Amino acid sequence: MAVLVTGGAGYIGSHTAVVLHEAGRDVVVLDDLSNSSVAAVEALRALTRPDLPFIRADAADVDAVGRAIVDHGVDEVVHFAAFKSVSGSIADPDGYHRNNVGSTVGVVEAMRRNGVSRIVFSSSCTVYGEPTSLPVTEDSPISASNPYGATKVACEELLAAEADAGGLDVLLLRYFNPVGAHSSGDLGEDPRGTPDNLVPYLMQVAVGRRESLSVFGDDYDTPDGSAIRDYIHVVDLAEGHLAALDVLAGSDDEDVRDPSVGSTGCRAVNLGTGAGHSVLEVLAAAGRVIGRPVPHEVVGRRDGDIERIWADPSLAADLLGWRATRGLDEMLADHWRWQQRHPDGYGTG
Ligand code: NAD
Ligand code: WQD
Repeated sequence: MAVLVTGGAGYIGSHTAVVLHEAGRDVVVLDDLSNSSVAAVEALRALTRPDLPFIRADAADVDAVGRAIVDHGVDEVVHFAAFKSVSGSIADPDGYHRNNVGSTVGVVEAMRRNGVSRIVFSSSCTVYGEPTSLPVTEDSPISASNPYGATKVACEELLAAEADAGGLDVLLLRYFNPVGAHSSGDLGEDPRGTPDNLVPYLMQVAVGRRESLSVFGDDYDTPDGSAIRDYIHVVDLAEGHLAALDVLAGSDDEDVRDPSVGSTGCRAVNLGTGAGHSVLEVLAAAGRVIGRPVPHEVVGRRDGDIERIWADPSLAADLLGWRATRGLDEMLADHWRWQQRHPDGYGTG
């Protein structure tokens, strides 16, 4: 089976490409490198095969995606390609909509023209906004609170409508907070510019690229006053995509308790651990893993941040036969290995 991985040069896509390759899939990567690099593709090839097909193209380009499908005999798609910065989306809502929804429209159209029906989509816990009750299940209210989140809601709706129309079999995977890196230390997260996210920023402080981590708020209504998230190892997340593709393909794996999902249209599934950790807990765990405290200071809350969220991951266990197995210390140890081996990201690899 050949699987097209759009956005496969990026953080989650590259880790997923490795897992899919190791599971015996023929992986084809399509990425416009708008937030990644040729060096990331080379790192991916070093862990998979030197001739792993890579197409540099915009996923909104129906002809380019169609050619990739035909040339490589693609019969399933994992669609990661999107812009992902919340602050970037507030600065450029139109650009985010055009890229994230436009790329999804392009991929869907190319799939339709070429008779491909199975797609796994990168959604996000951001679609839940500030949860009204915890843990969040897939039936929790949807309420995007920023333009980035709105693009994910729009893509989910588009894919659900296409599935209703009979053209697609879709799994919408709602990721919680991915961190960590491949255990080799040679594939990891390489954010451009100043990282928005907690762990990449923290690791850049630890490696000496930045002076101090700002902890955004210690006055939340949480046990230690800092905000709580469900951090998940990127390789666990990658394995969730393999499980999702297997279910869509009608796997007869006995762990998959509901193989009928392959023909039921569109389902949303949380990919999280089910455990929440506060910012101060992450900081303390990182200090232990790194072997010294990470310089930090508490500052005010970040605009738009939610207080706490974590997943109910039971549907993923029931439907996909998948659950996260790696804990916070392993996520941070793997992220730290990557950061130490590549202090400036792929640039100095
Ligand atoms: P990333 O930026 O590292 O990877 C995205 C990749 O897509 C990049 O390589 C980029 O160059 C590429 N890309 C962007 N627009 C494209 C287009 N129009 N055509 C082709 N390629 C394009 O981000 P990531 O963290 O790996 O995220 C992957 C997906 O998961 C995204 O859809 C993101 O919204 C979603 N997601 C990420 C997180 C997170 O915290 N990282 C959480 C939930 C959901
Ligand atoms: C985690 C916690 C911050 C940076 C975002 C998107 C979400 C999803 C994941 C894509 C929060 C605190 C952070 C820092 C800090 N992405 N923090 N100092 O905000 O949960 O989610 O990424 O879909 O859509 O909104 O992740 O890593 O930015 O923050 O104190 O320098 O760390 O306040 O409590 P977040 P994050």
